[in-house]
Amino acid sequence: MIVSTKKLFEHAYGKYAVGGYNINNAEQVMGLFRGNMDSQAPFIIQLSKGARAYTDKRILEAMIRAADEIFPDAIFAVHLDHGDEESCMDCIESGFYSSVMIDASHADFDENIAITKRVVDAAHAKGVSVEAELGKLGGVEEHISVDEADAKLTDPKEVEEFVKRSGCDSLACAIGTSHGAYKFTGGQGLHFEVIEAIARLLPGFPMVMHGSSSVPQDEVERINAAGGAMKGAKGVDEAQITMASTMGVTKVNIDTDGRLVWCRVHRESFRDNPENFDLRPAGKIFMAEYAKYIAHKNGVLGSAGQLEDLRKTL
Ligand code: G3H
Ligand code: 13P
Ligand code: ZN
Repeated sequence: MIVSTKKLFEHAYGKYAVGGYNINNAEQVMGLFRGNMDSQAPFIIQLSKGARAYTDKRILEAMIRAADEIFPDAIFAVHLDHGDEESCMDCIESGFYSSVMIDASHADFDENIAITKRVVDAAHAKGVSVEAELGKLGGVEEHISVDEADAKLTDPKEVEEFVKRSGCDSLACAIGTSHGAYKFTGGQGLHFEVIEAIARLLPGFPMVMHGSSSVPQDEVERINAAGGAMKGAKGVDEAQITMASTMGVTKVNIDTDGRLVWCRVHRESFRDNPENFDLRPAGKIFMAEYAKYIAHKNGVLGSAGQLEDLRKTL
């Protein structure tokens, strides 16, 4: 059942985080739904601009509609990840999306607000909620000075004004993470002081953490042992994700970890079966392994086991 993102956030805030999982193809859709059903978790399925252009947005949307029928007990929201104004408007008008992300973080403060507000006005008229971004996502590296690091992070002092003037429903905050498989150097981690300050200023307002893949080291080792070259790949510590999930971080975005599972399964499968040229054997293993990963991650987020309690509130 597709529900509003708002409903999911209301149930989760301060107790757990909802996984925002990116998908690109049928095997990911099947693994994602299976993993969430196995762990009895609500979730957000998210489509990036790149994913919508990979085959065709209509293929992905049709797969989600089909999965909704195949898994009638699933409760989830459909979200546009990292949209620009044009793709946000397209998703809002389609009537299929629960929420959109307008990523105008490249613009200055006032321009970010203006762009976000235009999307919010169109979205709210159709019952769609909006995630905006304030601050610059990017790993806080060890060689960066404290001043430089602070300049990248979301400034809690700006959040209240940004939310009030833009009307956004949730906010992607820069708290030290970055996208991809190479995050942090040395002992860097999440900036809990930023999360705490925002939660204090805007209690109940959902924060979103992008760049949340943990980059499991056993996956990286297996990829490298099967011909990959991923030296120094590193992700977010899972204990830190669990802690953030109870502090107002209500959506945790994960894409890279799913790609790592895909890469490991396919590299090992073709290494171990050099005579094989069929796509289905590895595809089947991937669906099962991705489902296993999702179920595990939902345990980390605290969303595992929340499905029936959430259902009572709908
Ligand atoms: O944050 C970005 C997501 O990982 C989506 O990546 O634009 O390559 O689909 P993508
Ligand atoms: P990762 O690259 O850490 O998986 O982050 C994904 C993300 O933030 C999608 O918006
Ligand atoms: Zn992101």
